[in-house]
Amino acid sequence: MNIAVIGTGFVGVTTAAVYASHGHAVYGLDIDEAKIAALKEGTVPFFEPDLEELLQEQQQERRLHFTTSYTVAVPDADIVMIAVGTPSKQSGEINDSYVVSACESVAPLLKTGAIVVIKSTVPPVLLEKFRATLQEHAQTEFYFATMPEFLKEGTAVADTQHPDRIVIGSTDAAVVEVLEKLHEPFAAPLVVVSPESAQMIKYASNSYLAQRITFINQISDVCEKVGADVDEVIGGMGLDKRIGSHYWYPGLGYGGSCFPKDVRELGHMAEELHLDHNLFAWTTSYNQTRPALKLQDFENQVGGWEGMTVAVLGLSFKPNTDDTREAPAQSVIPFLLDHGATVRGYDPKAKHAVSQTQKNAAHYRQSPTIEKACQGADCIMVLIEWPEFLQFDFSSVAVAETEQFFIDARNQFDPEQVGDWGFTYIGIGK
Ligand code: UGA
Repeated sequence: MNIAVIGTGFVGVTTAAVYASHGHAVYGLDIDEAKIAALKEGTVPFFEPDLEELLQEQQQERRLHFTTSYTVAVPDADIVMIAVGTPSKQSGEINDSYVVSACESVAPLLKTGAIVVIKSTVPPVLLEKFRATLQEHAQTEFYFATMPEFLKEGTAVADTQHPDRIVIGSTDAAVVEVLEKLHEPFAAPLVVVSPESAQMIKYASNSYLAQRITFINQISDVCEKVGADVDEVIGGMGLDKRIGSHYWYPGLGYGGSCFPKDVRELGHMAEELHLDHNLFAWTTSYNQTRPALKLQDFENQVGGWEGMTVAVLGLSFKPNTDDTREAPAQSVIPFLLDHGATVRGYDPKAKHAVSQTQKNAAHYRQSPTIEKACQGADCIMVLIEWPEFLQFDFSSVAVAETEQFFIDARNQFDPEQVGDWGFTYIGIGK
């Protein structure tokens, strides 16, 4: 099949490369010329394990191409997948302008019978608007469907190649047949539902996972006050098969480009629908205030941030990505600077944690190595569970006869081991 993927972010590039690897002829399109120039050269403009290798392999096979031109990518396409960004507006609702503009550009070029698939995360109430925009600009008969994406950054290639399920949002038998055939090689359960339900599966899945993290974060707050240990609580609860121990390690809150945005949008939807007791709006508010609340707690334990040198390890929002969107470091570092600390940041991949215009930015330095960040620091704060941090021997940066603190914001380290290295351990929910 001929496939055009509109938008070359994590979802677009990964999807395009994986479809190409199944033998399809794929065009990836973006209006960002610099991005397309890099992709044409076989360079992925963000860090995502295994993606560059797959991309280059498919380019060498001449199955995968990139362009900024709709007239190159769309006219031959049997399927056009729209995978452009849907960032949050101030109000919490999404900015749908990239989807609308992709629909306007794609529509006049569609061949008869082409299927336009919305892959971007969009609220069900907007689907009619996108369908109408396509209709208004199209010159031929086309089909419309949605297919939400469930890949995670950091494991995008593996998640796309081996998905837990594939959700097809269409009530048209002819469309379902084509999309089922396209996805046969994935050997994953196919869920065929209405376009509206497909988008709700996406919002509800992300919000449920965000909720699970929020739940355990608040349980960890309670544990701290009553002398319990949240890890012991998770261990005991997880044995209940209905609950399980997966995907709810506590921390400073969920981040990234998806959970915060999707929970905000669901909160906005609930508000628009006048639903009382808006769980999603509450979750957003708790998650946003959590880093500052935890830093106040830590402050009491370390005796004040004023004059302290703090090594902040982990600037991305999670390991194996250089994405810093809504990462804990984005709130932690400004908080520490505002409270009089000098901060050294380090991350194996992510850069630019602090903008030069930020208040007290002169007291921030990005270190080239973990050793340089930690050497002589009064406090080491590990925000992200990068394997490099877990493998590092922190005894090499301990200073004898000085009290140094070690804040393990992911409960990844053994408190006894940290004590043996020479630090005072502070975890979450302990
Ligand atoms: C998330 C979903 O997991 C994907 O299924 C979805 O496709 C994607 O959003 C999206 O909508 O595009 P992602 O944002 O890449 O994927 O990252 P996750 O691994 O799910 O982590 C999200 C946040 O939750 C991170 O800040 C992470 O540190 C945090 N988290 C995760 C926890 O605090 N505790 C956990 O147990 C797991």
